[in-house]
Amino acid sequence: MKFYITTPLYYVNGNPHIGHSYTNIACDVLSRFKRLKGDEVLFSTGTDEYGQKIRDAALEKEMTPAAFADMVVPRFRELWKKLNISYDDFIRTTEARHEKVVAQILELLYKKGDLYEGEYSGWYCTPCESFWTKSQIVEGTCPDCKRPVEHIKERNFFFRLSKYQKWLVDYIGSHEDFILPAIRRNEISSFLKNPLNDLCISRPKSRLSWGVEIPFSQDHVTYVWFDALINYITVCGYGSDNRRFKKFWPADIHMIGKDILRMHAVNWPIMLHAAGISPPRTIFAHGWWKIGEDKMSKSKGNIVDPLSMVDKYGVDAYRYFLLREVPFGMDGSFSEGALISRINSDLANDLGNLLHRTLSMIDKYFSGVVPERRGVSDTDNIPGALVYEINNLTSKIETAVDKINFSQALVSIWELINRANKFIEQKAPWKLSKEKKIDELKDMMYDLYEVLRVVSIALLPFLPMTSEEMMKQLGLKKEDADIKKIGFGHGKAGTRINKGSPLFPRIES
Ligand code: MSP
Repeated sequence: MKFYITTPLYYVNGNPHIGHSYTNIACDVLSRFKRLKGDEVLFSTGTDEYGQKIRDAALEKEMTPAAFADMVVPRFRELWKKLNISYDDFIRTTEARHEKVVAQILELLYKKGDLYEGEYSGWYCTPCESFWTKSQIVEGTCPDCKRPVEHIKERNFFFRLSKYQKWLVDYIGSHEDFILPAIRRNEISSFLKNPLNDLCISRPKSRLSWGVEIPFSQDHVTYVWFDALINYITVCGYGSDNRRFKKFWPADIHMIGKDILRMHAVNWPIMLHAAGISPPRTIFAHGWWKIGEDKMSKSKGNIVDPLSMVDKYGVDAYRYFLLREVPFGMDGSFSEGALISRINSDLANDLGNLLHRTLSMIDKYFSGVVPERRGVSDTDNIPGALVYEINNLTSKIETAVDKINFSQALVSIWELINRANKFIEQKAPWKLSKEKKIDELKDMMYDLYEVLRVVSIALLPFLPMTSEEMMKQLGLKKEDADIKKIGFGHGKAGTRINKGSPLFPRIES
């Protein structure tokens, strides 16, 4: 099985922030999960470097846009490395491989008559890189970001979006998983109840030359949104490696934030369809991280820097918080207080304690060697018993991940962790030891070891460093990180454990 997943290409006019990191962490979890299942994964991310916004940001710093982009791109790469983002390809829209495919698509659509020249008159919002009509703008401001728009009148090229509106409506109607979650599909369906305007896809060089050349016009470059979307087919080999393209396209998931849904769910499928290419399987639009009720913005000075969060609290604590705190798809409110609570309760108390005290007991009662368990009986196979719950974990996680519901997957893992913690309280192994009930004690330690072993594998996609550290302490090898081993009994009696320091020290606020 193949799995192709993409992130948006981030604008390089500023540093990466928590919102960008959220999308990439989500894609990383899905990629790692599919790899764990043995699928062949292509996970791509990158940067969007053309357009007015980048040109203006470069001018402010008295740099050329190219030099400016070269300065910012490494900050994205550095963040992805810090966050353990396991991407396979990083594409920049200024690369020759990208521009070549953009030119091919432009040529194809032009020859087909789907691109035509005309006069554009309307309003433009630079921060959103979007055109608006008179009826759309609100008191001289952009309906999306509420910043001032400028009036523009110039000759440009247009793409016949309107010609394909009916096709798109039918396609969405017959493909339930095309736009997810359902609330976003409904949003697009109601947007499509009104006639689509054709899309202006160029800029005259006299106003903006920082863009991809248009093969049939000396005077224009392409509109940033037209070129950037095309990266998704460039990455998997369109126009350069047909076998690879056939293998990976259509993309399984375009992961985006809800802010850029229309470009992905309306313009992009129509561009592909007009060019004779099938649409992606799923476009998933997640929610926004806010600060309280506010949008993060430079002017409010409330932007959260992911690097500083990671330096303060660690990568996996940061990943855990983003994935666990909010059901994926909904908006969330970021605060350090909430992050600290999650660290202390879920990571330090529940997971960290279970590992530490179980390994301490195996050290104390069995000299650091996993004991052998007696056979499994009927009472082990009823809901609530550890054996039963361990055996059910994979299906619970698979169901949640298939629905792209990360918090639910983590809840299932934590239910098992907490059941094991309760089991220790109820069975009081220290009493068993005192009363010399050695067989019972052995059974119990083996079961707790099994919980930790399956949890260490299940956590790999979510918290890769923690999973690795747990496996080390549990005396497991790399090849033990196999989804097929998330089941009771794969752990080997006789394994020597290596108890280490607690995984997540408590944070005193
Ligand atoms: N360059 C375009 C995308 C082109 S894709 C072919 C763009 N770039 S962006 O830098 O503005 O990134 C937007 C994306 O960043 C959102 O879709 C989302 O994935 C992420 N986020 C930005 N701010 C966010 C939040 N506050 N919260 C969550 N994610 C958000 O648009």
